[in-house]
Amino acid sequence: MKNLIVAASLFLAHSVITTSASTQQPLHDLDTSFTSSLISLHKSLVEIPSISGAERNVSSFLIEYMKSKNFTVKSQAVSETRENVLAYSGRSLKTRTLVTSHIDTVPPFWPYERHGDEIWGRGTVDAKGSVASQIIAVESLLQSSEISEGDVGLLFVVGEERGGEGMRVVNDLGLSWDTVIFGEPTELKLASGHKGGMGFTLKAKGKAGHSGYPELGKSATHMLIQALAALDGLTLPSSERFGNTTINIGKLEGGVAANVIAEDASAVVSIRVAAGNAKEISELVEKTIHDAVPDIQIDFTLGIGPVAIDHDVDGFETAVMNYGTDIPALKGDHKRYLYGPGTILVASIDFTLGIGPVAIDHDVDGE
Ligand SMILES: *[C@@H]1O[C@H](CO)[C@@H](O)[C@H](O)[C@H]1NC(C)=O
Ligand SMILES: *[C@@H]1O[C@H](CO)[C@@H](O)[C@H](O)[C@H]1NC(C)=O
Ligand SMILES: *[C@@H]1O[C@H](CO)[C@@H](O)[C@H](O)[C@H]1NC(C)=O
Ligand SMILES: [Zn+2]
Repeated sequence: MKNLIVAASLFLAHSVITTSASTQQPLHDLDTSFTSSLISLHKSLVEIPSISGAERNVSSFLIEYMKSKNFTVKSQAVSETRENVLAYSGRSLKTRTLVTSHIDTVPPFWPYERHGDEIWGRGTVDAKGSVASQIIAVESLLQSSEISEGDVGLLFVVGEERGGEGMRVVNDLGLSWDTVIFGEPTELKLASGHKGGMGFTLKAKGKAGHSGYPELGKSATHMLIQALAALDGLTLPSSERFGNTTINIGKLEGGVAANVIAEDASAVVSIRVAAGNAKEISELVEKTIHDAVPDIQIDFTLGIGPVAIDHDVDGFETAVMNYGTDIPALKGDHKRYLYGPGTILVASIDFTLGIGPVAIDHDVDGE
């Protein structure tokens, strides 16, 4: 099972880097030392808290680790206390292929635990499983001379879980690649695309008053409920490739007490976009809500439409992912693959490494 994680990453890196059909098979001749290296590196990464905004300890660890493996390591400041880590073999910062993932996690921190074949802990799957697999895969390919200087670079970014702030500054490096493999939990399937995303906050402003005299006030919670009911009835665009656009009303707030007319109420909503683009969706949402409740405020956050991903490597199952990634944040005309161990279904709960590692390459068509 653990071999599979390494093998899958190796398989992917190998398939992408070489074009020989004879290599399109998982590599079964993995040195067992790579398996234990993988488990041990993964443990070290998961043990270090790295919630978005506070990733420094894990980037410091990675810098030392990569140097100890004779990689040339560069860090890129994202803010005064945060950095991306770039590593490559020898002197050639310019590589044909880049493998990349993120080192931040969502909160809260959960410690590493291992129970037999199951590994628990925040970030185990998303995305330290990918980080560890990518590093060990590249180490082993270098050691066996299947790749050499100039072939593969490694990039680990901060802030993926908070809108891609780390990856966005990578564009300032002025680097480009033929191929970029992004590591996220895809159950070792090659992702053929992922949904886009956008969000908005609804803010209702009413007039407080005693609940016994509703005619003298205006209920913000009532306004909010009407707006959300309209939203609930809205069908957003779908597509065969990406499925349905889905709406999650993730957070509600409002009012102060049962016998007081609520002056304020708000809702935070996120949308996974499966067709069309964010502008189109925001116009539909705005019209639907304002037809129902004209004086409620809607503040949209930036959004993107569905992202198509290259998935033209034989031998992989492909699948569409329903979550966002750093893929759109990295500019360039490189081929983009998305592949990694673990399933996203446990990623916000916390997950096990042992089952369903996911590698993703998938051909993505344009945005
Ligand atoms: C980073 O590591 C230091 C030293 O172990 C520790 O004191 C600090 O709390 C850690 N920072 C975070 C954000 O976890
Ligand atoms: C790193 O390079 C040095 C000098 O070439 C060599 O002695 C050492 O064994 C290498 N270490 C690893 C982990 O490859
Ligand atoms: C999309 O929504 C329709 C209508 O609600 C539903 O029947 C269908 O199963 C959904 N498709 C997916 C892939 O969830
Ligand atoms: Zn992730």
